[in-house]
Amino acid sequence: MSDSIDKEKTQGETENERSTARIDTKILIKLQNVVKDFEIGEFIVRAIDNINLEIQEGEFLVIKGPSGAGKTTLLNLIGGLDTPTKGDIYSFGVLISDMNQESLTIFRLMNSGFVFQNYNLISTLTAEENVMFPISLVGESLSEQRSIAISLLKKVGLAERREHLPFQLSAGEQQRVAIARALANNPPIILADEPTANLDKTTSAFIRDLFDEIKEMGKTIIIATHDKYLLELADRIIDFQDGKITNETHQSEN
Ligand SMILES: Nc1ncnc2c1ncn2[C@@H]1O[C@H](COP(=O)(O)OP(=O)(O)O)[C@@H](O)[C@H]1O
Ligand SMILES: [Mg+2]
Repeated sequence: MSDSIDKEKTQGETENERSTARIDTKILIKLQNVVKDFEIGEFIVRAIDNINLEIQEGEFLVIKGPSGAGKTTLLNLIGGLDTPTKGDIYSFGVLISDMNQESLTIFRLMNSGFVFQNYNLISTLTAEENVMFPISLVGESLSEQRSIAISLLKKVGLAERREHLPFQLSAGEQQRVAIARALANNPPIILADEPTANLDKTTSAFIRDLFDEIKEMGKTIIIATHDKYLLELADRIIDFQDGKITNETHQSEN
């Protein structure tokens, strides 16, 4: 799907513009002087405080920091679930921080898969239907939706659980369904907000292996976490506090 966007973008561009675009594709996401304020009554909480950040294509980035640091807000901004108070956010060279809700919805559907701390599965849909749902939104046929969902549920080791409703699945199984759902439209970016926070060690290790596979697929991964297993996989770890980046560590062996 991102291929077709790229094709559309390159049509009609001059040779010069196209070579510039190619250089730019190395940096997938760019935040420039980004601020996010939340107003609560007469108080203003500055959740993101003038952040500048570039994320490379294929990078595995971990954001860690205490509760209230602004990690979730940052993920929401990067994924286009929220818009900044000030500053610019580019994804694939497109200024997403200025997009209207309708364009953002389409952009999200094609470009980013979300994995949440509490899985956020639709409780009345089976595992298979949960994975089919985002595929149905891009207009694929029912048989195509089903075949993609089955292959993704196989990938996360849950093929035999596909008829189960979320309440019939363990926490770890629900998170695996949520990961399959995040991959449903084969998005180039995967965002995950403390995906193993509510899981035991064994299940966390399984989820870690899944993210390792997702990394091998060449996807750009941004995870808010403190999980030592996930930290091991990171190319870069960003420490976040009071809406600011306080430290950055590169792990070159990854
Ligand atoms: N929707 C919201 N309305 C008001 N304040 C919010 C909202 N979302 C986050 N905040 C505030 O922004 C700050 C950062 O929150 P958050 O991004 O959830 O941090 P983290 O994920 O690191 O725990 C906190 O002070 C939080 O209370
Ligand atoms: Mg959070």
